[in-house]
Amino acid sequence: MAGLIVALDVDAPQDAERLVDQLYELDLLYKIGLESLYGYGERIISYLEARDVRYFVDAKLHDIPRTVGAAVRRLVRPGVRIINVHALGGDTMMRAAVEGAQERAVELGIAPPMIFAVTILTSIGAEELGELGLSGGLGQNAMRLAALARDAGCAGVVCSAHEVHDLKEFFGADFLTITPGIRPGGSAFGDQKRVMTPAQAVAAGSDYIVVGRPILDAEDPVQAARAILDEMRAVPVRA
Ligand code: C5P
Repeated sequence: MAGLIVALDVDAPQDAERLVDQLYELDLLYKIGLESLYGYGERIISYLEARDVRYFVDAKLHDIPRTVGAAVRRLVRPGVRIINVHALGGDTMMRAAVEGAQERAVELGIAPPMIFAVTILTSIGAEELGELGLSGGLGQNAMRLAALARDAGCAGVVCSAHEVHDLKEFFGADFLTITPGIRPGGSAFGDQKRVMTPAQAVAAGSDYIVVGRPILDAEDPVQAARAILDEMRAVPVRA
């Protein structure tokens, strides 16, 4: 069964906490992105930990291996299920993240969080790839970086739902995918361009879908999240 991750992209910690309280009874994870991490990271993480709620730290780490390994160690706590890094940080950096997570989890006697990699940011176009000195197309680069992430021990990649089919075909079902850019039928696209509905993303093989504004901006966030979970559950399980 695929999981729902709600992006806690809100300005004020009180709003994030209210949302967590409202959605408490639902089976989902929260995503703490850069905005909430830098704005009120320790506060929201402590809030989630105190309520035994699971979360994904969308830290998008990219630094020298020692620094990334040390940062991951700092983030490992009982409730954290997923931490991510940029695959462009390279093999040694990703390995440092995976090892940091495993070692710290052993010290704490808890299950280690999964390390996911971001391949190419979806905001980067074909032209910008060239400016960065990366040869080949977007798809080619994303697949190459996904292979690097898999070999470094990452559990999977953050990607567009449109890429899931190819990734699963190439790397197998056990290499996991987290897909943002999800819009239930009838909701505003905002700045997302290549979207899929929750059901389409799950049918394509997404393991986790990330949803922000369609829940955060809904008149009734609980009803919106429930409807998404129902839609996900209605997708026939893949053989
Ligand atoms: O509000 P919305 O559903 O568009 O939120 C999607 C979330 O996923 C945001 O937190 C955004 O930063 C994140 N994200 C994304 N596209 C990526 C990677 C992350 O939209 N390629």
